[in-house]
Amino acid sequence: MTDAEIIDHWKGQDAPLLPVLHAFYDRDGYLSDDAIRAVSAGLRIPLAELFGTVTFYHHFSREQGGKSAPRVCTGNVCCLNGGKEILEALKPEGARPMPCSGRCDDMVPVIRGDEVFVGPHAGSLQRRATPLPAPNPGGSEECVFRHIREEGRHTLGGYRDSGGYTGLEEALASTPEALVELISDSELAGRGGAGFPTGVKWKAVADAPRQPKSIVCNADEGEPGCFKDRAIMDHDPHALLEGMILAAYATGAPRGFIYLRYEYPETEGLLQQAIDEASASNLLGENILGKSGFNFTIRVIRGAGAYICGEEGSLLNSMEGKHPFPRNRPPFPVTHGFEDLPTVVNNVETLASASQIARKGAAWYRDLGLGDHAGTKVISLSGDIRRPGNYEVPFGFPLRTLLHEWAGGPREGRAIQAVTMAGLSGGFLAGEDLEVTLDEPCIRGKGSFLGAGGIIVFDDSRDMVQAAHDAMSFFAHESCGKCFPCRIGTQRLTERLNGGGGEFSLEGWKDEVEDIGSVMKATSACGLGMAAPLVTESLLRYFPEAVERRISSSGEASPGQATSSGVME
Ligand SMILES: Cc1cc2nc3c(=O)[nH]c(=O)nc-3n(C[C@H](O)[C@H](O)[C@H](O)COP(=O)(O)O)c2cc1C
Ligand code: SF4
Ligand code: FES
Repeated sequence: MTDAEIIDHWKGQDAPLLPVLHAFYDRDGYLSDDAIRAVSAGLRIPLAELFGTVTFYHHFSREQGGKSAPRVCTGNVCCLNGGKEILEALKPEGARPMPCSGRCDDMVPVIRGDEVFVGPHAGSLQRRATPLPAPNPGGSEECVFRHIREEGRHTLGGYRDSGGYTGLEEALASTPEALVELISDSELAGRGGAGFPTGVKWKAVADAPRQPKSIVCNADEGEPGCFKDRAIMDHDPHALLEGMILAAYATGAPRGFIYLRYEYPETEGLLQQAIDEASASNLLGENILGKSGFNFTIRVIRGAGAYICGEEGSLLNSMEGKHPFPRNRPPFPVTHGFEDLPTVVNNVETLASASQIARKGAAWYRDLGLGDHAGTKVISLSGDIRRPGNYEVPFGFPLRTLLHEWAGGPREGRAIQAVTMAGLSGGFLAGEDLEVTLDEPCIRGKGSFLGAGGIIVFDDSRDMVQAAHDAMSFFAHESCGKCFPCRIGTQRLTERLNGGGGEFSLEGWKDEVEDIGSVMKATSACGLGMAAPLVTESLLRYFPEAVERRISSSGEASPGQATSSGVME
């Protein structure tokens, strides 16, 4: 396709910038200066602004052949599994590092072009489908994974075989108001991290006056240690589509988007296949399933690599072709979302849960939780654990049972030293606090949060100061730079964890680190800057001796000089 053909194809459509950039990138194998100039002129985006936006994303290489050069995950879990060695081995091919790419349950991922390979060594990389969740080890009733292991589940036929789309049919036989009430009664809350009640969100969009409204599925899944949304999309894509169609009916939105992280190229094809099947069966399109006036379409928009694009304001700016900074709030997306119009932004797991709730009822869903807790949560478990993977647990489930009984515990001869919560954003839990139950009230009581449900395990061979350093350097790398407490704070905390910044006593180090952390928490503009200090806070709480040892030996060794495995010897 010529430049003009690419631009003309996308120009009149919603959210054109990312698809146009991807079209040039796919055609040329990199983003040339000429391509950026053509896009700037064609979409009427000032060149300087567009250049800033394009270079903000990690994956748009501006060097010839950049798209096919390997990108190797050197995220926190892959550092434990040899990611840095693979990077070194592939350097002659132009390999570059990338942060966690959502495959922490497998061996180290390497992206080449639009293919993802995994393996323990550079010489043994192979393509592998997303692992299915293991059969539920505890036999507790599931919601999201209820049917995911069934043969052919990813096809429309397979989905329908176990009752797929009957919840939608029932909803369409009733009113949008009744559907909002059902979701509210179920007590379903957002599974993307913030835990906002889904029924309240849908009602706010339903009540908001302006059109066209949008349903945006947040499939950015950038939090290190999280890989649940990929499993749902790859193996049960119609559950997500049904959830989006339900949200559209509840709110009156005619357009839907799935914002998919760059690092899931195979998922894009699987989602498109499901969208095509659904469109051919009048589950998408006009007068859906014969419901006059109910029109809804879904498009996949592929991101280009940036953790902050998972934050809903950033995501919406990214879709709109703006620089993907988080937005100031209020106003919230429910009234001022995509193109400043009312928008539901929901996580993949939230929407897939809504499909089951529409089928099986609010009381059924509430009762899946233990004690006073409603529903279930998918936990992505990785790191030093025998059986990493996705596990769906009832809210209120003991962490220890998940770790030791369901996932097989630590490797032979090792003990679990610490785990992260909310991927990396919740910092660490260790010692007696490993006795928590998996629900927000309990985990918040320990100074952390469950968030999107990523848990990375560190056994007693790991250097926890190193682990904290790697976590903080991720946040420093991913801070969008919009506000200085986060931009500078994450950098300073990384330096402190690296033994830099001068000579400190333990007290002096603590004072400095706590001071930076409290400013970040009080003044950062989004959740990244507010959560990052939990890493240093929890490190100090559980491992003060390790910090002291690091400070007293900072002239001799530092995490920045760690062995290539990323673990201090
Ligand atoms: C730094 C940051 C990153 C985030 N990343 C994601 C993400 O990758 N996926 C996601 O669903 N939500 C993410 N969120 C939360 C979203 O902003 C938003 O709350 C969520 O998509 C709403 O959907 P839910 O109510 O279904 O959870 C992130 C938030 C922050 C502050
Ligand atoms: S807190 Fe950090 S990531 Fe969030 S807006 Fe500020 S600089 Fe950007
Ligand atoms: S996939 Fe490498 S750290 Fe998650």
